[in-house]
Amino acid sequence: MTIELLDLHPAPADLRRLVEQGLQQTPRQLPAWLLYDAEGSRLFSEICKQPEYSLTRTEIALLSTHADAIAAAVGPGVMVEFGIGNARKVSPLLKTGQVTTFVALDISTTALQNALKGLADEHPAIAMLGICCDHSQLSDLPEHPWLTGQRRIGFFPGSSLGNFSPEDAIELLQRFRALLKGGPLLLGLDQPRDPQLLEAAYNDAAGVSAAFARNLLMRLNRDLQGNINPDLFAYEAHWQADNSRIEMALVSLCDQTIRLAEQPWTLRRGDIWITEHSVKYSPAAAAELAQRAGWRVQHRWHDAADQVSLHLLLPAD
Ligand SMILES: C[S@@+](CC[C@H](N)C(=O)[O-])C[C@H]1O[C@@H](n2cnc3c(N)ncnc32)[C@H](O)[C@@H]1O
Repeated sequence: MTIELLDLHPAPADLRRLVEQGLQQTPRQLPAWLLYDAEGSRLFSEICKQPEYSLTRTEIALLSTHADAIAAAVGPGVMVEFGIGNARKVSPLLKTGQVTTFVALDISTTALQNALKGLADEHPAIAMLGICCDHSQLSDLPEHPWLTGQRRIGFFPGSSLGNFSPEDAIELLQRFRALLKGGPLLLGLDQPRDPQLLEAAYNDAAGVSAAFARNLLMRLNRDLQGNINPDLFAYEAHWQADNSRIEMALVSLCDQTIRLAEQPWTLRRGDIWITEHSVKYSPAAAAELAQRAGWRVQHRWHDAADQVSLHLLLPAD
């Protein structure tokens, strides 16, 4: 079993700068990756098990059903997964024998370590390289002998692209195109559907989504010596049809002043702090987004209800 880990996590000073920038915006919003410390990654895994959150189950079923067709379409090479999380999705693709080396990227060191350990046990013949980083800032993979001269295949499931605004999503897809050096990208996205079902998926009855959002505040307390009381915020998830997205937010329950890294921030009762967006793309909208980022859709696999899609993107030229 061969595992290597590289640590390119943003420095504490970057974290402080990002938080200051995000809290100066109206409404307040920080990059979604800040939700994923060790506890955030654990809570996200719990969200995936909730009855209201069907995306994970549907995408795993799609990947299992179509693994051979996907492998035939993408060809052999090094597979690069952006944001591996708990590594529930890639195994059917690794079993096809097309992947020589697997590169997992994630912002959460704990998630990355656990993911690679589990995958290496299951796929001992495949070399595993983990890179802890913010992939939205990565312009290339680090030099490594396992990657030299190898074709690259990207894998970006979980509708994680939806965390970015459409403009930032185009920039991210352009970045991945350059990083994959002519190789394909398998992109998993879910589609707009019944708003009630979508709102329930992001605000489950067991309260796990709410705990996931509030964990951001606890993470900031820990990393920036803060004094935020998470109980003074309500959690809400709303479908915003005009932007084809779910907005998840913490709402201040009172007038309050919080402190982070010795800096005070005043919130009024009812002020919202957006924790993340999840933009939903119809197949046509996904194809247009891909095209604007220099990709074309070569194939699309989808579930019976046509709510979740795996788009195989190839460089447009
Ligand atoms: C929504 S979860 C999806 C996990 C997994 N891909 C799936 O489909 O179930 C997003 C994952 O990407 C990671 N992540 C989020 N933003 C990231 C970023 N900017 N750079 C690297 N990893 C990121 C998180 O730590 C988390 O594991």
